[in-house]
Amino acid sequence: MSEPGAIAYFRGAFVPRAEAQVPIDTHAFNYGTGCFEGIRAYWSEPQQRLHVIRLREHMERLVRSARILRLGLDPALDAERLSAIGLELLARNDHRQDAYLRPIVYKAGATIKVTLGGIATDVCAFTQPLGEYLDIRRGLQLMISAWRRIDDNAIPARAKPIGAYINAAIASDEARERGFDEAIMLTGDGHVAEASSANLFLVAGGTLVTPEATDDLLVGITRDSVLQIARREGIPVEVRRVDRSELLCADECFLCGTGVQVAPVAGIDGRPVGDGRMGPITDRIQTAYLRIVHAETDDFAAWRTPVLPLAAPVSR
Ligand SMILES: Cc1ncc(COP(=O)(O)O)c(C=O)c1O
Repeated sequence: MSEPGAIAYFRGAFVPRAEAQVPIDTHAFNYGTGCFEGIRAYWSEPQQRLHVIRLREHMERLVRSARILRLGLDPALDAERLSAIGLELLARNDHRQDAYLRPIVYKAGATIKVTLGGIATDVCAFTQPLGEYLDIRRGLQLMISAWRRIDDNAIPARAKPIGAYINAAIASDEARERGFDEAIMLTGDGHVAEASSANLFLVAGGTLVTPEATDDLLVGITRDSVLQIARREGIPVEVRRVDRSELLCADECFLCGTGVQVAPVAGIDGRPVGDGRMGPITDRIQTAYLRIVHAETDDFAAWRTPVLPLAAPVSR
């Protein structure tokens, strides 16, 4: 039995992961010229099957990111083809636990010139087991970072550029060093954008509020899932600018994202959110989300793509 995630997709083929190595003069390694996605797949024990969550939407965002960043992705590698590659990779790796799929579009050519045109572009992907990396029943302690979220006019905020994640890493690292779980990032003009790698919701007077897409945030796919669940549950929703001080008087707050799933926030800058425990609306959204991704309900079944055992490889 091979290691989980032992196969990678690299240079147009499925290869042993140890062989999927980029040379040190790769443009993307030097300048961060690429973009990526993070996609979760959940193992259903009763169904003995892995389900990928919102695969198509993630691959559509990957194609969109590549377009925004002028990466010159081969048009044949559209969302459908990328989804097929992702599914085949997960099937080849035969994960029997929750897993994570990481596709990357990157400038693979070797040049020290800072440009985009005329440099080869490639796609690679790997998978790995991934359970809950945060305790999502315990409320998180967040701090408002002094590091501002990248401005959409500097590095496109609605893409997922590899290089831009230094912005998230520096804020989140500082938060952890100060004893917090995560950092909240404000826009250049001081409005709430998101957490370092998750979107943010608050609840005020029974209404769910989240910053709008034009406030330098990554337009999260889980954010969309939460909005859809809330509308289905009849919870009033507002998507609008959020002031920093609203965070400090919210009844509830939670983060959402592929990685964190739906994670309640217990405190911000050392002040309790509500009574410091998971609030009823957060609880409803978290419960509904986890049931959907774990295939325990037929609701939103279209969000799940099953990973079918590999009969005959569909591509090489
Ligand atoms: C900066 C940033 N914001 C938000 C998110 C949440 O996005 P999604 O729900 O699509 O995973 C992520 C995670 O990918 C992220 O990196």
